[in-house]
Amino acid sequence: MGKFNWTRKDLLSIYDLDVEEINFILDTAGEFKKVSQRNVKKVPALRGKTVVNFFVEPSTRTRMSFELAEQRLSADIINISAGSSSLQKGETLLDTARNIEALQADLIVMRHSAPGAHVLLARRIRCGVLNAGDGSHSHPTQALLDIFTIREKKGGIKGLKVAIVGDILHSRVARSDAWGLLKLGAEVRLAGPATLVPKEFEKMGVKVFHNLRAAIEGVDVVNLLRIQHERQQAGFFPSTGEYARFFGLNEDTCSYLKPDTLIMHPGPINRGIELDSSVADGTRSVILEQVTNGLAVRMAVLFLVAGWVEK
Ligand code: CP
Repeated sequence: MGKFNWTRKDLLSIYDLDVEEINFILDTAGEFKKVSQRNVKKVPALRGKTVVNFFVEPSTRTRMSFELAEQRLSADIINISAGSSSLQKGETLLDTARNIEALQADLIVMRHSAPGAHVLLARRIRCGVLNAGDGSHSHPTQALLDIFTIREKKGGIKGLKVAIVGDILHSRVARSDAWGLLKLGAEVRLAGPATLVPKEFEKMGVKVFHNLRAAIEGVDVVNLLRIQHERQQAGFFPSTGEYARFFGLNEDTCSYLKPDTLIMHPGPINRGIELDSSVADGTRSVILEQVTNGLAVRMAVLFLVAGWVEK
């Protein structure tokens, strides 16, 4: 791991990070991955630190992964959910955060439906703030774990072709993956119905496709995304059956792929819609390895941000 001086109090978006910072997080995650492969899977790096996991939106993978990462780093942990907190009684997000701060917490890991909620907190409180997903905007640790997985499997990112297929419009994963992959020199293709992948995305520097075969032929990685019904106000396509027929990855549409194409999905999977079970559970799938790597990436970002907050 090279020498590098981490200088961020918060991890808000992968868009903010430069290439050196991204690579340093990935290298640090590589070291923490080794910790989880040992008999004793715990290190004292965050002993004496308090981390609050504040999830205002549902989560399985990100929440479990952050909590386990904190345990592996020996932190003290408090978990707050929207449903059981005083947000229900009308307390503001900032007041809740100030109360967390008054308990001398060091870090807040937050998932929130409002894009930019993390930026507001990070500016107003002393604790380090880690973004565990904000609306359709950003999910930096998902992007970092996706990039870590691709780098580990393919040996690097520069020059790779990566297709991200699905509900791009509502996806913080698509935006975050695209920002990170573009910074590291990959070609990024976004694919889905025109209603879910507007041409304006090309301003980011990606290629937009409305035909699955054209999007995935010759790529090194396909990342499938689910349709986010919870964020859709309108009918963006006639039916899930029709979506699956034109944009689903199954045994037939996999024939457009190279034999060594990685198949990824951030979860949760809608089996039979964006991805058939035979492909999700097949030999090219690295979906569960993404989950394993997520733990290492979250240990790395907690460790780096906590180190800065301490200074
Ligand atoms: N990938 C992801 O963010 O999954 P969860 O919503 O279950 O955390």
